[in-house]
Amino acid sequence: MNAYLADPLAFPQTHPDGFPKLEGEPVFDAAKHLQIEFPETIISLREFGYPDEDIAQCPCDFGITNVFRILSDEGAACMLEVARLLEPYVKSNARIARNVRGGAYQSKFLRDLCQSEELTAAISKICGTDLLPHTIPHQLGHLNYNPKEVGENVDKWHFDTLRIDFVMFVTDPYSVEGGEFEYYLGTKDEVAQLKKDGKPLDPSKIKAPTLLGPGYAVLQQGNMVVHRAKGLTKAGERITMVNGYVPRDVSFPDYTRFDQLYLVDPKHMAASEYSRHVSWMGRELLETQLKGFEFSEDTAKMAENFEQVAEMMATAAEALRKAGEAKVEHFGDD
Ligand SMILES: [Fe+2]
Repeated sequence: MNAYLADPLAFPQTHPDGFPKLEGEPVFDAAKHLQIEFPETIISLREFGYPDEDIAQCPCDFGITNVFRILSDEGAACMLEVARLLEPYVKSNARIARNVRGGAYQSKFLRDLCQSEELTAAISKICGTDLLPHTIPHQLGHLNYNPKEVGENVDKWHFDTLRIDFVMFVTDPYSVEGGEFEYYLGTKDEVAQLKKDGKPLDPSKIKAPTLLGPGYAVLQQGNMVVHRAKGLTKAGERITMVNGYVPRDVSFPDYTRFDQLYLVDPKHMAASEYSRHVSWMGRELLETQLKGFEFSEDTAKMAENFEQVAEMMATAAEALRKAGEAKVEHFGDD
């Protein structure tokens, strides 16, 4: 564990083309719009079956929480208004039929909510580690909208391209039929093996947290928990918002899946946002060494520090050179 906590990275000042700012949206007010209640149950990665060596690579050892409240009734109403204003900008990819990413560039409400210090402090407390709103703007305030076709899943079985995120219902889950959020109480390797062998997921391990209402969420270590969002069984409106976080302790390996982001986000933005994120990680890793300066003859440790930065940069450079070679990864619908 590293004592140095990274400084935040401000939201980009340059506004991208193709992301028009919303007009006439509500103004986010943390005092009025947040009503955070802490989850009662936290399921650890150990309970998912992860071995200690996998957990050691993660910034914390929790897997997923039960459903807990984030927004007040007024906050949830404003969030729904903003989500509907963003709906004309939906896009489709190989995993999700209708989603809006990059909404934080278009909506100040969404940006302010996703970057709220009060919210970040609460999410950090639940995780048991200090976090920052994700340094890649497209990983903030991702919105999923139900497909037009009844029965088609909102999102297939998958794990996330980031470490920690919450999935919050924007619409009232009780206003529709179906549309459950489900996760698999097993490891991602187990799911990959089952899929490889053409076997179904163990139904006893498929869990659907009890949903409580709009503005309520589950928090998960999204790159470790295999999950999906089921389709509606009758026509209706189902919207969820996913907000991502990065650990402030940058000594943990970066988990960003640039290969995947490049396939779903505008290419120039995915590349630039990733590059900016890696520069921030590198800056903060070097800052760790400068701020922790002391006289030492531990040359092995000094070399290790440089190797860590160099390796991260080399990995990023390789990912950038291979941009576009991957396929969107998921585990399918069943
Ligand atoms: Fe996800």
